[in-house]
Parts: sequence; structure tokens; C-alpha cells
Amino acid sequence: MSGNETFTETAEACRNCNTSMAPFMSFGPQPIAQNFVAADAGPEAHDDLCYELAPCLCPGCGLMQLQQLPAEDCLFSPSYAYRTTASTRMVHHLEELAGDVASMLHDRRAPFVIEIGCNDGSFLAPLARRGIRHLGIDPATKAAEEARAKGVRVCVDRFTPRKATEIACSEGPADAVIGTNVIAHLRDIRGTAEAVAALLASDGIFIFEAIYLGAILKRTAFDQFYDEHPFTFSALAARHAFAQAGLELVDIRPVPVQGGSMRYAFARRGKRTPSRAVTDLLRREEAIELHDPAAWAAFAERCAQIRNKLRPTIELLRNRDGPVAAYGATAKSATVITYCGLDREVIDCVYDTTPDKIGLLTPYSRIPIRPAGRLPEDTPGHVLLFAWNHLSEIEDRETAFRAKGGRWLHYHPDILVD
Ligand code: TMP
Repeated sequence: MSGNETFTETAEACRNCNTSMAPFMSFGPQPIAQNFVAADAGPEAHDDLCYELAPCLCPGCGLMQLQQLPAEDCLFSPSYAYRTTASTRMVHHLEELAGDVASMLHDRRAPFVIEIGCNDGSFLAPLARRGIRHLGIDPATKAAEEARAKGVRVCVDRFTPRKATEIACSEGPADAVIGTNVIAHLRDIRGTAEAVAALLASDGIFIFEAIYLGAILKRTAFDQFYDEHPFTFSALAARHAFAQAGLELVDIRPVPVQGGSMRYAFARRGKRTPSRAVTDLLRREEAIELHDPAAWAAFAERCAQIRNKLRPTIELLRNRDGPVAAYGATAKSATVITYCGLDREVIDCVYDTTPDKIGLLTPYSRIPIRPAGRLPEDTPGHVLLFAWNHLSEIEDRETAFRAKGGRWLHYHPDILVD
């Protein structure tokens, strides 16, 4: 590993409940997943391998987490490239959630909604259009500008207990606090729980959505592990993490985004009766042995099988049918590329629609990112689908590639040409 030790932080004990824990596997040294670099970048781009990707399952509270992480400032810079609007389906999903939240609050006088990690405003904009008082909190300056252009109020900052108390004092308590695809990014989990509790009205509701641990296990979706996801929640772990701040898990439902997520709803303890869905899922997690080390040892074994097969499969396809490219310069792809030993000798380029990523190179592997619009004319023989969580949207968009004989290559749950 070429990164220096001060660049990373290592947890020997669970960040939530302090039980000592150890990794059940390692994906090896990794670069910062979204540290895309300029086409003419030299070594000063710092896209080297800087931390070891090693997940641990806490034996105390069931929270899946990464033992080592790069310093947080290296991950979420003001120019953070991810945009919700990169996926139309995700935007629709958040518009629906905004509709649900608005109906949930319809009988309250002047309700106030806070979103943690509001990104480009895709969730808050529909609430702003309905005239609902709201505030987004996000440290990414560029994304915040885009949100403001949609009429969304944004506070450019990190979500900490101090910030939450400041907002509660100046703006009053929130009827709803929402966080989609962000709570698992915030490595001070106890601070996050405390901050939510500081903001929430006595009868308020806290809703968060996150990639579900059970979905990762089921699909062997090992690439959901990367630096921006210090945590992966199960119902058991989510319930535990927020209980210490006096919040009770009152409802839960699967949501078909990000490759399999859950929507968790919390209220102050004793304020709402938990639904059947909560007990049902907790029971199911026990039945499938989601928190059993043996299940994760088997997962590690499946990951190794994929790693051993992926590069030889790509080489074989290249020899037989010509160039192989990839699709979706996702953060997830850093784990696949590095763990499976891929590079630009076997992957010509990665296609993507995000303007801020096009023309750059993937971190460490330095594979060029090309506009997705070029895919139909290039039509490589096979395209490795890194953005597998957007499969149906991408299939709908890239019909010309298929029509010209191009095939998708999938890498989990099994390696498959489709
Ligand atoms: P995500 O998996 O973190 O949401 O990232 C998805 C990436 O895939 C993002 O860089 C945008 C890209 N993308 C496309 O290039 N075309 C598409 O049709 C979709 C939905 C995403």
C-alpha cells in the first residue's frame, strides 16, 4: 500500500456499539473510489491505493462496516461528482417519496422538512413546489448550487450534532428528517443519531433509505463495499444504531433502488406503534442467518470465485469478439476493477452520461471515461455493466448498442453474458 498511515483511520471496535471486531475478508488496497483524474494526470493526482477495503460484521449490534477508511475530507469534496439526476428512475423515486412525506404531513400546520445530503435537490424540489418549508444540508457546493436553482433552500455544511442543534435553535424542530443514500456514508454513526434526535419534533418522523445488507448477501454484490459506505444496514443494526438516541424503528419497507434498499422509519420512543413489517423483517433476518459469520465466510468464497473468473472471461471475449468496454463510472466500479485485477489492457473505456466524469480517468486504473452517447457508434463486442443497479434504465437507453449486436457482461451473482 502506497498511502501513508495518517491518511487512513482504522476501527478496531464497532463505531456504533464499541464491541471489538475483525474483518471477515479483504478486497485488498483500494484507491478513493470517486477520485477521477484528468486525462493528463501525473502522480500528483494522488489516485494511488491508499486504504485496505476490509468489511467487518459487528458481533455486538450486527452493523456491517469497513475497518479502514481514507480521511473523510478526501471523499466528499465541494466538487463531489455524484448527481441524483444521473438516473431518471432515482429522480422519480424521490419525487414519489416527497409525495408520501407531503401526504404524511398534510394535517400539520406549517410543517418543516429537513433533508440530510440533499445533493442536487431532487427530493426537496417537489416539496418546495408545494410550498412546504424545508432545508437541505449538504457539503457539496456544486450540487447545492444546482439544488438552489430548483428553488431549494440549502445549508452547505456537514450534518453533525452541532449543526443540527444550531438549525433546531434557529429554525425550530423538524416534522420530518429524511436521508436517502446518505446515512450509511456518515461514519460518526452515534453523532448522526444524536443529530437527528436534536432536530426531530416530539411527534416527528425520521426516514432513511440505504442499501440493504440482505440484498448484498443474496446477490454477492461485493462492489457495494467501497470507501463512501462505511456502513451497510440491516433492520437489526438500524434499530440498534438509533435506539441509543431514543429513536424507535416503527416501519420498514423494501425499495427497489441502488440494487436493493430499505426504507426505515423512526419515531421518538413510545410515540408510534411499530408495524408488523418491523417484526417480520427482524425475524426473517434471523431465519436467513444474515448476521451469522458463516454466511459471510461463504460470501467471501463466492467473491473469490468471481475474482478468479472475471479477467480470464474478459480476455477470452476480447480474443473472440473484439473490444470490451464498461458502462457506468460508478464508485462501486473501483472495488471491481482493483479486486478483480482489471485495467485498460482489458477494458478500453467506461461509458457514462455524467458531464463531470466524461473525459476523466478512473482512479488508479486510469481507464478513460467516454460519453455514453458514443456507445452506439463504438459498439464494442461486450460491455461490463458496472452500473448494474440501473439495469432496466440503461437497457432502455442503450437499445442501439444491443441492436448492433453488443452484449452486456454481468459479474454477479454470477458472471454472465446477456
Ligand atoms: P450509481 O450506481 O452510484 O448511481 O452511479 C451510476 C453511474 O452510472 C453514474 O455515473 C451515471 C451512470 N449512468 C449512465 O451512464 N447511464 C444511465 O442510463 C444511468 C442510469 C446511469
